[in-house]
Amino acid sequence: MISILKFAVLVFIASYSFADDYVLNRKRFPPNFKFGVSTSAFQIEGGWNEDGKSPSSWDNITHAAPDSILDGSNADVACDSYHKYKEDVAMLKEIGVNHYRFSLSWSRILPTGFPDQINQAGVTYYKNLLRELKANSIEPVVTIVHWEIPLALQELNGFLNESFIDWYSDYAAVCFDLFGDDVKIWTTFNEPRGACIHVNLSGSETGGLLEYECAHNVLRAHAKAYRLYEERFKATQGGKVGIVLDSASFMPGSDSAENITATRTSYQFELGWFANPIFNGDYPEIMKSRIGARSHAEGRKSSRLPEFTEAEKVALNGSADFFALNTYTTFLTVAIEEPPITDPPSRNQDIGVSTYQPDEWEDSSMEDTKSAPWGVRPLLNWINDNYNQPEIIITENGYPDSTGTLQDVKRLSLIQSYLSYIRDTMEQDGVKVVAYTVWSIMDNFEWFHGYSQKYGLYNVDFNSPNRTRTPKLSAQYYKNVCHTKCLIVDDNGCTD
Ligand SMILES: *[C@@H]1O[C@H](CO)[C@@H](O)[C@H](O)[C@H]1NC(C)=O
Ligand SMILES: *[C@@H]1O[C@H](CO)[C@@H](O)[C@H](O)[C@H]1NC(C)=O
Ligand SMILES: *[C@@H]1O[C@H](CO)[C@@H](O)[C@H](O)[C@H]1NC(C)=O
Ligand SMILES: *[C@@H]1O[C@H](CO)[C@@H](O)[C@H](O)[C@H]1NC(C)=O
Ligand SMILES: *[C@@H]1O[C@H](CO)[C@@H](O)[C@H](O)[C@H]1NC(C)=O
Ligand SMILES: *[C@@H]1O[C@H](CO)[C@@H](O)[C@H](O)[C@H]1NC(C)=O
Repeated sequence: MISILKFAVLVFIASYSFADDYVLNRKRFPPNFKFGVSTSAFQIEGGWNEDGKSPSSWDNITHAAPDSILDGSNADVACDSYHKYKEDVAMLKEIGVNHYRFSLSWSRILPTGFPDQINQAGVTYYKNLLRELKANSIEPVVTIVHWEIPLALQELNGFLNESFIDWYSDYAAVCFDLFGDDVKIWTTFNEPRGACIHVNLSGSETGGLLEYECAHNVLRAHAKAYRLYEERFKATQGGKVGIVLDSASFMPGSDSAENITATRTSYQFELGWFANPIFNGDYPEIMKSRIGARSHAEGRKSSRLPEFTEAEKVALNGSADFFALNTYTTFLTVAIEEPPITDPPSRNQDIGVSTYQPDEWEDSSMEDTKSAPWGVRPLLNWINDNYNQPEIIITENGYPDSTGTLQDVKRLSLIQSYLSYIRDTMEQDGVKVVAYTVWSIMDNFEWFHGYSQKYGLYNVDFNSPNRTRTPKLSAQYYKNVCHTKCLIVDDNGCTD
């Protein structure tokens, strides 16, 4: 059911469009607003088989199926951060960030996947990194699983095995225990939506069944780890636990009721799939009804969308202390006829909405996706209205190019625009955004894109054994933002 308030917000979304004469926000960010940068273990560390680390699911993909990586590359060395963490922290210090978001490699800490054997060298690596951050007053924001899991667990069907819930919570307990004195902001998973859509690790989407099973296990694993932290660690360590969810912004293709409903449906299937169980205790009604009806039409006895038990709903409901969001783009949504029933089924047909990006959105970043920063405002309002006005940490936002150019004017201007629309949202809509994090501090291994997509504020020379890091123009700009909390670089600066 659509409440009057939500309807008003959607009309607002419908009438909200970007204008060529948009004026960048000159209001300074609040003194306690935090600026940071992000990376993940597999994408930067290298040292893939050093000091007792076992292979992860992604080491297996890059070694056994290099053809599935766009440039046939692997992350055996990547940015070599396993050996260069001090250089990494020096870059963070140079920019002046408040926080550094990174992830832990499960197979570096627990080579068998299980806590029977803790790899001391792996633990020491993260302890050293945390010590270096502390010495430089940079707050760690730590992701426990960022896409990769130990290959040993992948061989047991990984996310698709219900035992994953226990494997994960045992591992999370080890992380809380080992690092919780230094880490006060934890996120359990990064982008479980993407991890589950690609659960077959083939670079192509699976078909409307496995991803719901995967998500069901990941959600229950998250809840178990959240409750475990609450019971065993929170009183002594005093940290917060959340989960990093990713979503594009969705805006209706026109202000018709059908297209506005299509926007809601897109949000529920993309973000609500994970956010609704965690913030409201169950899958969104529209997912339950649409997948249930289509499963029935396919002749199945039960829905392809699994159901939570009452106890699981209770454990999930409210299992995040903040909302962590990764966002990169915006789509317009259009209502379509009910898609036909097919075998195998597909998640896109379950959603039953068409999305597009108009050609005139020239501000293109990825080959096939445009950035459209104005969409962040309706997206943040959606989160505020549907998930109990949470504190929002933007854990990823950024801009890829293929060249790694040091004169990265487009990246600079995109970060500036996103931040300006975020500042508008805080100021004009009262949405509680508390932190922003650029993906990424440096060019790194971008999964199926290999090294062909570069998001860094620093260029990395992947042809040099030194993996030399060089600041781009965007690094200088972001340094100024971190120091002044102001987006505009001119004589007038910001108002307080
Ligand atoms: C390792 O990769 C190969 C090649 O893609 C694949 O056939 C195999 O299933 C993978 N192993 C696991 C456990 O995922
Ligand atoms: C799931 O994990 C259990 C161990 O907890 C294992 O016995 C079982 O074979 C796994 N299932 C699959 C399909 O690999
Ligand atoms: C994905 O892998 C599972 C086994 O893990 C297999 O049953 C299924 O057919 C695969 N699906 C696709 C779309 O590749
Ligand atoms: C939805 O928006 C699209 C794109 O603007 C438009 O072509 C279509 O007619 C709209 N559909 C309805 C039902 O209003
Ligand atoms: C989740 O908790 C809220 C607030 O306590 C409550 O209103 C809601 O009914 C709960 N959701 C479920 C599915 O139990
Ligand atoms: C790598 O770094 C070492 C030590 O700083 C230096 O001597 C060497 O010239 C560098 N090599 C390259 C290819 O940059």
